[in-house]
Amino acid sequence: MFPIVEAKPLAAAVKQFKIAAPEIAKKRKPGQFIVLRINEEGERIPLTMADADPEAGTITLIFQELGKSTEQLGKLKAGDMISDLIGPLGVPTHIEKFGTVVCVGGGIGIAPVYPIAKAMREAGNTVLSIIGARTKNLLILEEEMAKVSHSLKVSTDDGSYGYHGFVSDILQNVIDEGTTINLVVAIGPVPMMRVICNVTRNQKIKTVVSLNPIMVDATGMCGACRVTVGGRTRFVCVDGPEFDGHEVNFVELVKRQRAYLDQEKLSLETFRHQGGACLGGKS
Ligand SMILES: Cc1cc2nc3c(=O)[nH]c(=O)nc-3n(C[C@H](O)[C@H](O)[C@H](O)COP(=O)(O)OP(=O)(O)OC[C@H]3O[C@@H](n4cnc5c(N)ncnc54)[C@H](O)[C@@H]3O)c2cc1C
Ligand code: FES
Repeated sequence: MFPIVEAKPLAAAVKQFKIAAPEIAKKRKPGQFIVLRINEEGERIPLTMADADPEAGTITLIFQELGKSTEQLGKLKAGDMISDLIGPLGVPTHIEKFGTVVCVGGGIGIAPVYPIAKAMREAGNTVLSIIGARTKNLLILEEEMAKVSHSLKVSTDDGSYGYHGFVSDILQNVIDEGTTINLVVAIGPVPMMRVICNVTRNQKIKTVVSLNPIMVDATGMCGACRVTVGGRTRFVCVDGPEFDGHEVNFVELVKRQRAYLDQEKLSLETFRHQGGACLGGKS
């Protein structure tokens, strides 16, 4: 059992949990994730570790309540227990001194980009960060990103805060200003990562994206998370989650992510209809 030591809202439908998991906190590297089950009958939920404190023995998860399982997770409070938690999983981000690294985070994608920006800065890079959300009250980790970045630019789709437009527009402006960029790391919704890759492709700027297909076992055995990268089948849980964005088949990824939409909708409706019990509900 893994106790939740802190649970707080960060934005509309976005929560931050600190969970006691000392062994994982000791080993975790930027880019890695865990898989948790709320209880013994729960669905497996993969979540990136936004941070870890090896001394306190805690990991930090930031998640958006999207469907049944994340909504159920969001109902838990400090003191409640998570029944299963495995990790750290996935290949850590390749961190070295590249020169100038642009870290782009969209929506909940700001959470996984944060530890990468921090590590890139610690490795001696100049870190230019661009974060964005649909609207101001969905924007997370602005202060934290500002602390680890040499410069931070913010956008909102509706213009309620910062630049009125998309993170990709800001990246295009930074490129047009003549800034030399050695690497772009982009994490967010698939359409966002795809557009960012289109912006950087012409300039031949190496671009790393973090993919979040549906996962089941997270051990490379079930095949649920397969994606095509550079014409080869890869499993995001063991080969990723990060890949060269210019090689990802985004069209296939979108199709596979939508495969269970009807069942996911039904599962959420049933959960809400049953009163959204936080423990003991079947998935
Ligand atoms: C490596 C990895 C890291 C992730 N890190 C984070 C994170 O830090 N914060 C965060 O908020 N979310 C993260 N996710 C996404 C998160 O796992 C899903 O939002 C969650 O599993 C949805 O479950 P649900 O039952 O609430 O929603 P569902 O009703 O199952 O689905 C809602 C939506 O989420 C997508 N989805 C469903 N199951 C998964 C799954 N197992 N993996 C990915 N997407 C799924 C569906 O396509 C659908 O569009 C990550 C996913 C992966 C693969
Ligand atoms: S989740 Fe089963 S192979 Fe990756």
